[in-house]
This record gives sequence, C-alpha cells and structure tokens, in this order.
Amino acid sequence: MTQPAIDDRNADQIAYWNGPGGKHWTERQELQDIVLGPVSKVLIDRAAIKAGERVIDVGCGCGATSFDLAKKVGQGGHITGVDISEPMLGRARELTPAGAPVEFVLADATVYPFAPASTDLLFSRFGVMFFAQPSDSFSNMRKALRPGGRLVFACWRTPRDNPWMMIGLKEAYKFVPKLPEMKPDDPGPFSFADEERVRRILTESGFTDIGLERVDLALDIAIGRGLEAAIETVLAIGPTSRALENQPKDKVEAATQSIRAVLASHQKGETIPLGGSIWMVTASNGA
Ligand SMILES: C[S@@+](CC[C@H](N)C(=O)[O-])C[C@H]1O[C@@H](n2cnc3c(N)ncnc32)[C@H](O)[C@@H]1O
Repeated sequence: MTQPAIDDRNADQIAYWNGPGGKHWTERQELQDIVLGPVSKVLIDRAAIKAGERVIDVGCGCGATSFDLAKKVGQGGHITGVDISEPMLGRARELTPAGAPVEFVLADATVYPFAPASTDLLFSRFGVMFFAQPSDSFSNMRKALRPGGRLVFACWRTPRDNPWMMIGLKEAYKFVPKLPEMKPDDPGPFSFADEERVRRILTESGFTDIGLERVDLALDIAIGRGLEAAIETVLAIGPTSRALENQPKDKVEAATQSIRAVLASHQKGETIPLGGSIWMVTASNGA
C-alpha cells in the first residue's frame, strides 16, 4: 500500500496509533463503542445533522461514529472517515454496512488535501487531540468546509474530571514507575482540556463562533458485565494501560488486585458507572 503523506511532527502519535494504541482499540472496538456510546449520543444530537449533508469524521478510528453519521445524512449524503491508523481503518472497513454512504481514507488530517469547500460538517469523537501543531491541522481541515460550514467535536476535560480514566492509574502507581510527565500541550487525551488553549487554536485556524460546553457523563466501564469486564477496560485503554505496558508480571498482577478492590467499591449490580467529563466544542467557518 502507498504510504500516506504525513506531517513528520506527528510521527510519534502515528507510530502509536499504528502500534499498541491501534491494537488495543481494534481489539476492544465493540466494548469501547458501548462505553463511549453516551458521548456519541450528545455529540450527534448537538451536530443537528440534516439529510443530504457531507461530513468528515476526523480520527474516525474503527468507524462507529461514521456509521451513526451515515444514518443521519442518508443516501443523499456522504461521510468521509479520515484516520492515520491502518488497523483501526481496517476494522472500520470490515464493519461498514452494505450500501452505507461512507468511505474511509488513510491520511494524516494535518496535510491531507481535502477537496476545498466541499463539506458541511467537520466532526470528531476524541480524534483531534493528537496533533503536534493543532492550528496547522485545523487550518488544513477548515479549508474542506464550505462557507458557513460547522465544526463539532468532543475532547476530554482534565484528568481530575475524568475518574473513569484515572482511577486505575493511582493504583498502578503503587507498583510501577510513573509515566514520563507530559506538558499540558503535548499531544494526548488531555491536550484540549484547557478552554483557552482550544479557543486560541481554533481562532488561529480561522474558525468563528467558537463555543465550549461542559458535559458531564456517567460511563459504565463494566458495560453491564460486572467487575472483571471493568478491570479489562481499565487495563486495556488509557493511561493505566500505558503505565502497565512491559512491566514485570508480578507487578502487573499486584496492580490488578489493587484496581479490582477500588473498582469493587463503585460497583452497582453489574455496572460500574464512573464520572467522565468532556468539552463539546462547536465553531463555524465564517470565512
Ligand atoms: C482516541 S482515538 C478515537 C477514535 C474514534 N474517533 C472513536 O471515538 O472511537 C483517536 C483517533 O485519532 C486518530 N488520529 C491521531 N492522529 C491523527 C492524525 N494526525 N490524522 C488522522 N487521524 C489521527 C488515531 O489514529 C485514532 O484512531
């Protein structure tokens, strides 16, 4: 396969999403889409999609939101899912319902030559926080929007506001070394937590009417399947999985026991609902 053009500054993230990140997300695709279902719902409601619209799903991963968007736009519309992860796009292609108005493109959204002024909506569920130079990426993506076209995406607020992602890390750190400290602007799940930074990036990229709305959600990390399923979620996704990667077996086992105990204290029947908090970001292509 021809290699897509990339912005070299994104090389580390591209390696991660084609390596361990892409592997975990592809293996857990079905479960992950259930955990993140509440996010899709609020995001798609907010996007107020009309039949016939053309949408780009940025960092579409295994395609769940692209398929939801396709239902909204119908046969007269079109969804382009863009992602830089070959394994995740491979899964998206496998899952595409016959006849759905969806195409998937393996590309770095920072440099991909989108057809100018061709699109009504740029959309993303957690696919825009991994750019090394976000204002370059958003400037490039904005060119795809028609005048008056809109941007709607979800990104995580701070780690403190997202215990669903952080609860395991505190336990893991009792047994394994801390992850390298990240600067707040480093690409990663929390790089858009700061409202002012997001506003600055979007303004520099030429967007107008920028809005950030805080949405708090309860995410069932057990997916209604009990304690062991919740432990699998914590060990497979996010910072806890990164901290435990390549650690000695006995340390991982000790951390897992500790995570089990803390998760059990939040269990309600077969569910373990934990707090998640996102920014619902909206903007227009006023130019
Ligand atoms: C946290 S995952 C979210 C996936 C999907 N949107 C979902 O909600 O299931 C982030 C996604 O962004 C993609 N991504 C990261 N950097 C990218 C880039 N420069 N261009 C396109 N996609 C990128 C990753 O490959 C990954 O699929």
